[in-house]
Amino acid sequence: MTAIGIDYGTSNSEVVYFDGATHRHIKLDPSLEQGNKIRSSVFIYFEDELPPPPDAMVEAKVSQLQRLINEQIDKAKQGYYDAKDPKEQSRYSNRIESLRGEYHNRPALQRKAIQQLMHAMSLEEIPLLRLVEHGKFAFGEEGFKRFLKMPDKGRLIYSPKNFLGASLDGDQKKAFIGIIAKQLAYFKQCAETQLEKPVSSVVIGRPVKFHGTRGEVGNTQAIQIMTEAASNAGFSKINFLDEPIAAAYKIEQTLPRDTTALIVDIGGGTTDICCINLSPERNNQLDRKQDVLSVTGRRLGGMDCDKSLLLKVVAPEMGMGLKMINGLPIPPTYYSDMCAVDNIPALTRFFSDDYGLEISQTMSVTKHPEQLERLLLVQENKLSARVVNSVRMAKELLSSKDKITLPLHYIEDDFDVNISTEDLKSALKPWLSKVKALVVECLEKSSAAPEVVMVTGGMSLSPIIIDALYEELLTGLPRLENDAFNSVCEGLAIQAFKF
Ligand SMILES: Nc1ncnc2c1ncn2[C@@H]1O[C@H](COP(=O)(O)OP(=O)(O)OP(=O)(O)O)[C@@H](O)[C@H]1O
Ligand SMILES: [Mg+2]
Repeated sequence: MTAIGIDYGTSNSEVVYFDGATHRHIKLDPSLEQGNKIRSSVFIYFEDELPPPPDAMVEAKVSQLQRLINEQIDKAKQGYYDAKDPKEQSRYSNRIESLRGEYHNRPALQRKAIQQLMHAMSLEEIPLLRLVEHGKFAFGEEGFKRFLKMPDKGRLIYSPKNFLGASLDGDQKKAFIGIIAKQLAYFKQCAETQLEKPVSSVVIGRPVKFHGTRGEVGNTQAIQIMTEAASNAGFSKINFLDEPIAAAYKIEQTLPRDTTALIVDIGGGTTDICCINLSPERNNQLDRKQDVLSVTGRRLGGMDCDKSLLLKVVAPEMGMGLKMINGLPIPPTYYSDMCAVDNIPALTRFFSDDYGLEISQTMSVTKHPEQLERLLLVQENKLSARVVNSVRMAKELLSSKDKITLPLHYIEDDFDVNISTEDLKSALKPWLSKVKALVVECLEKSSAAPEVVMVTGGMSLSPIIIDALYEELLTGLPRLENDAFNSVCEGLAIQAFKF
């Protein structure tokens, strides 16, 4: 029975086969030259045009839009009467005139009505489960590119793994089982084609804690969803292994003698740590519970860093921190809602017409509506995932550059944001102190001090993180050479070989 390891990651997934001597990485993403890992996002879409809405529906929507414009006119009129000086009065009268123009422009209103109805049909009205059952699936870079080209035609699940431990109803659970089963079936098929034999057994990596607040309830649900998905994908033997322990098994193969090691895996979604006794003599034993000295994990990953950086450097260019005419700040929740790519209800609310209307209304009582208009463009064109992805790339570039210019021209021509490593450092500060606290907790729980340390996961490529861990916490502890992306999956494949 051939067995593989699958590292089902928040950002990237990998599949590796170990034959007892060498590791073979399965190519998963044909659109990448180095296609051994694949972006974990999934785009579920309808290929054909959805039928245009009937005339009666369009007319009803036009009337609704006109009612909303009328409400805005009434508010602007009130602003005109309450204005303190002629300058402010003239701002309101301009606004009233432009709203009246919008009210009477029927062709534009009809276009907007059709566009909104189509959005509603593909995104808000169609429940996720229906989309999963009837839609087409696109994985990896191809899926993300398709999403960028036609975001209205479907729904991007930025990172399915992020939802596994969350509070889900029955249909949502079924939807995620369906999504992940499709991904795992695709991975299995790639492995079978490339290894030229059937694959029926799998060891899947798991974080120590899937969810921030739901503890064991979240973990149990996540494992149930993953097990059912793997079984639907055609695997008959399914096992799980903590991700940092898998990474430890991989380095165990390179150690000449028994060694106590601290393994820190900082990925896209979680940080997972273990302190473990590694031994060249015991490395082929299946159950190593007695060697694991301590394990800690928390939902602290690269995606949180992307959001913090976004809030620190991009959101201020979109109006965050500005004051409204009444002296109150623009609600900061606009910006946290904009980045909620891992929270379906929050993101659906952010993309709703009412939310757009609220931002428009706030624009009319702000001194610099141009900046807030950028937020409105992200809202109207559903660009959240694209912005978070751009900031992720910026963060990665800052691992090798002191400063960069991030072009956001899909929001507005010439919209560039300058970002320095100092900006990143300050955005990461609160996050880093939580990561350090998790390392300290693991060290305190362990009955023996580590002799070596290995930091792995994509975030280990950031000098800011490495410096913070080594200079302030693990000073002097020998550091093992590491492969940021492959250690976990190679360790899972080693475990799979033992079955
Ligand atoms: N050069 C780089 N510098 C800084 N960060 C990077 C770099 N390359 C990748 N990353 C970050 O690493 C993270 C992905 O790491 P990894 O592939 O280990 O995560 P994952 O296994 O998918 O997630 P998890 O294990 O948490 O489920 C992303 O946040 C990504 O932006
Ligand atoms: Mg990982």
